[in-house]
Amino acid sequence: MEVVANKCQCEALRAKDPRYKKLADIIAKYAGREGALIPVLHEAQEVFGHLPPEIQMLVAEGLDVPLSEIDGVITFYSLFTAEPQGKYKIGVCLGTACYVKGAGDVLDELKERLQIDVNKTSADGLFTLEVTRCVGACGLAPVVSVGDDVYGRLTPDDIPAILEKYIESEKNSNA
Ligand code: FES
Repeated sequence: MEVVANKCQCEALRAKDPRYKKLADIIAKYAGREGALIPVLHEAQEVFGHLPPEIQMLVAEGLDVPLSEIDGVITFYSLFTAEPQGKYKIGVCLGTACYVKGAGDVLDELKERLQIDVNKTSADGLFTLEVTRCVGACGLAPVVSVGDDVYGRLTPDDIPAILEKYIESEKNSNA
């Protein structure tokens, strides 16, 4: 009987993915510099789209900083995320004007339709749901943004058509 060693394939997989070479270059560029962690995380997130535990570990090893410090930075700065991000960010304004005009119900409808909670990404990778503070369009309350588009005076009943627009456009771009 042949015995096959149960070795981790991570190294082999990384060698095939050019993003890991970019990450190594980024770490090499900043290693040993004062305040290297934030620019490295920033550039790593540009390369990978988010900062999952594996990338955090590689940065920790490369810069010789504790993993707990990296976790603290990612948690503290809203710029960083350990979660995969959807193609479209949905921002539901929960500022006062929007809230009193029913933004909470709109948010609930989005959660229900997308089957996700706030700061999570839909299973199809299309949408990440976020809440925002006042975006300066209170006259249109309640306001929701999807990517660069802004929708105002919404009710929960408007949500299915809005989501469908992006789902359809995605289907057409893949056709
Ligand atoms: S409170 Fe939502 S836009 Fe001002």
